[in-house]
Amino acid sequence: MALPLLSLLPLSPLFALCSLHACMATDSDPLLSFLQRVQSDALRTMGPTDFDPKLYVDLPLKTDLSIAVSAFDSLPRRSGTIPISEFNKFLKEFFDEAGSDLVYAVPVDFKPEPEGFLVKVENEEMRKWALEVHAIWKNLSRRVSEKVKKRPERHTLLYLPGTVIVPGSRFREVYYWDSYWVIRGLLASKMYDTAKGIVFYLISLIETYGHVLNGARTYYTNRSQPPLLSSMVREIYMRTGDVELLKRALPPLLKEHGFWVSDIHQVTIQDQRGHKHCLSRYQARWYQPRPESATVDEELSLKLTPSEKDAFYHEFASAAESGWDFSSRWMRNSSDLTTTATTSIIPVDLNTFIYKLELDISTFAKITGDNSTSQKFIESAKSRKVAIRSLLWNPNLGQWFDYWLDKHDAHQDVYHWNPGSQNCKIFASNFVPLWLLAQYPDSDQLIEDFDEELVTSLRKSGLISDYGIATSLSNTGQQWDFPNGWPPLQHMIVDGLANAYSKEARSLAESIAINWIKTNFAAYKKTGSMHEKCNVESCGEFGGGGEYIPQTGFGWSNGVILALLEEFGWPHDRDVSC
Ligand SMILES: *[C@@H]1O[C@H](CO)[C@@H](O)[C@H](O)[C@H]1NC(C)=O
Ligand SMILES: *[C@@H]1O[C@H](CO)[C@@H](O)[C@H](O)[C@H]1NC(C)=O
Ligand SMILES: *[C@@H]1O[C@H](CO)[C@@H](O)[C@H](O)[C@H]1NC(C)=O
Ligand SMILES: *[C@@H]1O[C@H](CO)[C@@H](O)[C@H](O)[C@H]1NC(C)=O
Repeated sequence: MALPLLSLLPLSPLFALCSLHACMATDSDPLLSFLQRVQSDALRTMGPTDFDPKLYVDLPLKTDLSIAVSAFDSLPRRSGTIPISEFNKFLKEFFDEAGSDLVYAVPVDFKPEPEGFLVKVENEEMRKWALEVHAIWKNLSRRVSEKVKKRPERHTLLYLPGTVIVPGSRFREVYYWDSYWVIRGLLASKMYDTAKGIVFYLISLIETYGHVLNGARTYYTNRSQPPLLSSMVREIYMRTGDVELLKRALPPLLKEHGFWVSDIHQVTIQDQRGHKHCLSRYQARWYQPRPESATVDEELSLKLTPSEKDAFYHEFASAAESGWDFSSRWMRNSSDLTTTATTSIIPVDLNTFIYKLELDISTFAKITGDNSTSQKFIESAKSRKVAIRSLLWNPNLGQWFDYWLDKHDAHQDVYHWNPGSQNCKIFASNFVPLWLLAQYPDSDQLIEDFDEELVTSLRKSGLISDYGIATSLSNTGQQWDFPNGWPPLQHMIVDGLANAYSKEARSLAESIAINWIKTNFAAYKKTGSMHEKCNVESCGEFGGGGEYIPQTGFGWSNGVILALLEEFGWPHDRDVSC
């Protein structure tokens, strides 16, 4: 297999544009600028061990900003560092605790043992655990304090009414793509109102910002995350038949679609026969360190020139928009994070999600009687399907690959397709289109002739380990790489295979699901909590790597466990341990 040479290319000239925008957004948000100063001083005072920069941009102010700023400016500094006791005194006097602007709220539709809960789970030990996982919804359930509504200028948290489910630990607020798997779990838990509440909240973000934010904070306003809102709506609709929900969701989903096909995201690629195709990429509107990780981004960029810095911050924030932050998938050199080049890549999963968004919009429009929108989106989906098949599918290797845009085309409107620019490295995202088998089994879909070859190609990929599907095959120390296995990736691939018209695919799906459930169960028994990711090589071991310590809670992990148990059940006589 010929590996693309693009990993040797320097940064794209596209980035020349970026410095124009530098320093706009944080400067226009005085609270965020101030909290970043506090964060940066905190690092000097506290030292790097277990330092979490996000903690400081999450602090709610107790007083008006100007008062806190003056107090901060008059703190004593010894050779540039604020003494720890002074610093702690200042924090206590001027801030409430991070996360205290979210309050616990038991969801109205939570029942300790809902009627019809996981009827196929017969094994008592498994059932007991499933009920414990279900009960964690209470722990992860929050309401935004009225304080935020009253004085939004003192909080980076965005106000929202109603009860929501957060991922947990440092992820104190609602996240976009996490919410899809949270909702899958809530549906297994029969918590339809809570699921709808999350959807309404995400819709309100589209109404305000034109897209769903990465998360519910002012510092996430300039990037989104993998677009799965239509999938959330569809799942809820399939359980509840709620046509009002579709009516309410349709206009914002049209707006969101516009965001993903707007200039920043969409590119035109001409194939070898002269046909032009449109596909999308991730691209944040952000050219500075990510506020929640500014000290990390600044440290990483120390060796770069000022204009390279702007480009790097832009690419790094764009990787965060992909949900895969961070990964060799976006890096030209997998041992150097500053070579992250997200906007030069056309991702398989993003285009699968947008394709599905188009099918969902068409379906919702049809149900609600808007035939012309329905027809229009059938056409959009058809074009995208042709584009994905022509440019991302690789018939010889039996999988879809991300595509690297050629930098020589970057100043032109149209890129020229080059088969050597498919990124033939193996990532779990190469198999995400399989998910559509679960979603649109009988309609016009990406996988025209599903056959055993796709299953063989997945089996041979090396991704399937003893305890789950690995994210990639390279152990780079990044969290979206080997040996980590992430719940959403397990779920999409398993859900797709389980719905294929192939016995072998279904049995592969079941065996991956069983091992995934067992390793999560073992980790839970060992540590008392659910983890955001697992190590696929060893039973009961949670995942590591990346920029923060491994997090527990955990929204999507719990959602995937409940969804898999709902799908496959657990017979009396099946062992629960690895
Ligand atoms: C970031 O988003 C905010 C809110 O939508 C907008 O006002 C601002 O201009 C954006 N910043 C950049 C650099 O595009
Ligand atoms: C990749 O990055 C590493 C670490 O910075 C460096 O040592 C190596 O030379 C780089 N490789 C290439 C091909 O540039
Ligand atoms: C939309 O199409 C359906 C059949 O597909 C038809 O029954 C209905 O009358 C059409 N509605 C409008 C408003 O054209
Ligand atoms: C859920 O919250 C309860 C009460 O605060 C706590 O005792 C329990 O350990 C939490 N469970 C998990 C799994 O986090």
